[in-house]
Amino acid sequence: MRCPSWGRAMPCRRLSAGALLFFALALQAETGREAWLRYGETSATVPAVLATLNTSPLITNARDEILKGIREMTGKTLRLESGMPKEPAIFLQTVPSDLPPDAYSIKSDRGNITITASTDRGVLYGAFALLRKLALHRPVDEQSAPRTAIRWVNQWDRLDGSIERGYGGKSIFWENGHARADLSRVREYARLLASLGINGCAIDNVNADKRILSPEFLPQIASIAAALRPWGVATVISVDFASPKTIGGLDTFDPLDPQVAQWWKTRFDGLYAAVPDLAGVVMKADSEGQAGPSTYYRTHADAANVVAKALAPHHGLIFYRGFVYDHHMDWNNPKNDRARAAYDNFVDLDGKFDSNVVIQIKNGPIDFQVREPASPLFAALDKTQKAIELQITQEYMGQARHMVFLVPQWKETLDFPCTVQVARASACSDGFSRRVQAFIGVANVGVDQSWLGNHLSQANLYGFGRLAWNPDLTSRQIIDEWTAQTFGPETVDTIAKMQLTSWRTYENYTGPLGLQTLTDIVGNHYGVAVEASERNGWGQWHKADEKGVGMDRTTATGTGYIGQYLPNIARMFESMENCPDDLLLFFHHVPYTYKLHSGKTVTQSIYDSHYEGAEAVEQYVRDWQSLKPHIDEQRYSEVLHQLEYQSGQAVVWRDAVTNWFLRASQIPDEKHRVGNYPGRMEAESMTLDGYSIIDVKPWETASGGRAVECPIPRCSASFHYQGPAGWHEIRVQYFDQSTGISTFRLFVGAQLIDQWQAADQVPERRTKIDSSSSTRRTITGIALRKGDEIRIEGVPDGPEHAALDYVEIK
Ligand code: GCU
Repeated sequence: MRCPSWGRAMPCRRLSAGALLFFALALQAETGREAWLRYGETSATVPAVLATLNTSPLITNARDEILKGIREMTGKTLRLESGMPKEPAIFLQTVPSDLPPDAYSIKSDRGNITITASTDRGVLYGAFALLRKLALHRPVDEQSAPRTAIRWVNQWDRLDGSIERGYGGKSIFWENGHARADLSRVREYARLLASLGINGCAIDNVNADKRILSPEFLPQIASIAAALRPWGVATVISVDFASPKTIGGLDTFDPLDPQVAQWWKTRFDGLYAAVPDLAGVVMKADSEGQAGPSTYYRTHADAANVVAKALAPHHGLIFYRGFVYDHHMDWNNPKNDRARAAYDNFVDLDGKFDSNVVIQIKNGPIDFQVREPASPLFAALDKTQKAIELQITQEYMGQARHMVFLVPQWKETLDFPCTVQVARASACSDGFSRRVQAFIGVANVGVDQSWLGNHLSQANLYGFGRLAWNPDLTSRQIIDEWTAQTFGPETVDTIAKMQLTSWRTYENYTGPLGLQTLTDIVGNHYGVAVEASERNGWGQWHKADEKGVGMDRTTATGTGYIGQYLPNIARMFESMENCPDDLLLFFHHVPYTYKLHSGKTVTQSIYDSHYEGAEAVEQYVRDWQSLKPHIDEQRYSEVLHQLEYQSGQAVVWRDAVTNWFLRASQIPDEKHRVGNYPGRMEAESMTLDGYSIIDVKPWETASGGRAVECPIPRCSASFHYQGPAGWHEIRVQYFDQSTGISTFRLFVGAQLIDQWQAADQVPERRTKIDSSSSTRRTITGIALRKGDEIRIEGVPDGPEHAALDYVEIK
């Protein structure tokens, strides 16, 4: 056992029997709700006293957190004192100092540990840092200041309690059009955020509900703000630009109309009377159907500034989204390009925004795809304050049904030469002051015990917070810290390896080479649908056809998007020789036979990466199983279930994309895997009793393009096993739609081997028989003999028709 090393005078002691019993009990019941703040599995030697100088809510929380943390780590309850301690103590002090507002220092000296900051919030951050260090067995001494003053999360929660692109259950803030009466989860969330140094939270959807600015919502916003405030988390709201007209009774929302300006002023005066420390607002205008200044032929600067002027007397900020594009673009025009939109919309406005306007820019030019280059807007706006917006919720990244650790992706954007100024911003000035650079993470936690719908996805929330505080931390440092705290030190190597490779793995089986996530972009953004992004106005085109693939974004022959980068970067992307393979098809249209730097052709590389991706997920399942002795029952089995599901989905993706490109390119897989599935029996080739064969759309989302569904109360599909005798694994690929709960039973001969229900809750909108509903059931350890009858019985439920794709025997 290693010990924390702050005080040589205090020897490290082994855990007492009582403490060991305590930890053993704790192992059994973990829901994930405590996230990384479990404080459960380490020992520490600590002074007996915990002393504070004031009793503000933040200091009280800092004190109680240390009390709880030390109690859970050591089984000891510190003595609470106020004022200067007279004996060795953990001492929390807010004193005027040179430390920037949220910064803290932790000093150990002769048995004392002193946490100092110039604000109470800094002390709170220092308290969490101390506990993290103790939990990680690290020296506690440190002085730390965040790189940027603003580190916020945005929640896309609707007032009805649903969450746009949220995968962890309903809203913790809203229910049936009102703030929840019980805001205890909001307080818990604020605590988690504070532990990472996150100091603001937007509490309503970026596609704002106009009602949020109506008078009846003031007390509701105030009650949420009261729940967040004691943890140093300031409240932010998303507002609708058309509000002066939609709820204000004016006949216009023209930003240059004085009545409109007055309306914003009066409304914010009222809001600040109820919530004096509101940090500001988020605004999405002229994008995806939201009203904006274009209605009156005004600019985004006109729009942002009218709101900014109303906020300014209250020191409020407006975060104006850079995510502006035309989603009715003509796909027949080869010069049209959604990637250009943010830059084209904002570059001429540089310097025209008021000092309390921050332009909130997504990391890439499209929309949180599996791989995009960094947005050129970061480098283009010189005289404008900028926030980088990262998406913690895994919208295009597997919706918390797939393990994807996003920190390596974010790091790539932050380290990109065009955006380096975001990460390495000039020193922070005070709190919510005017000259800031900011980190925004779209978090979308919900009421689920795991917050995000998957225990492993919590690493993204943790990673966002740590990176927002210090963008120089490496992905490895972040995941090691998170894992040790969340699952215990014994699990670090295995989980870190899984998480660190998970983004590449997901990219491999979804959209490699810069194709972006090849998902159903007009549907739920989850399952595979290769052509869904083509021939519509949304502009996520990859232009794959029988001749080649990729968007030509060059300045020479394409859309000219590459010209938006600084010259040295543009030169790299413009030349096919220098463009990295990872982004080739984002920037260039090439024939399928084009040879990559890897030496492979484009088609073969697509085939290979999909097989590598699917194999990697199978390995994750085995890796996770090796951790069984170290992880509590509940989280172990929930993650195992999720990884097994992901493993099935990775095969769905693999088969869909590879078959699609095989059909388009007519170039066979050198390794003969694509279209050839040993051990697989298509449902449509089985002996069917009641089941009928259907064509699945799009064709690539079911094996062989077809499936069987049961239109009557009970059906069965059977076949005779023809392989060698022995122990086998049976994988049933079936469709679990969200429209009902069908039941399946699997028989070998007359023996019932397994039965289950198609009752998954996520991902959302799985109404059809397609890749989103395609699900795998794996039954291991089955003894089969040649000639055995394998029969699946399906009992539909309402519109869910107990559909089957295939059975595979391994
Ligand atoms: C994506 C997402 C929308 C969201 C939008 C935004 O397009 O699918 O749900 O509203 O981003 O960031 O504004």
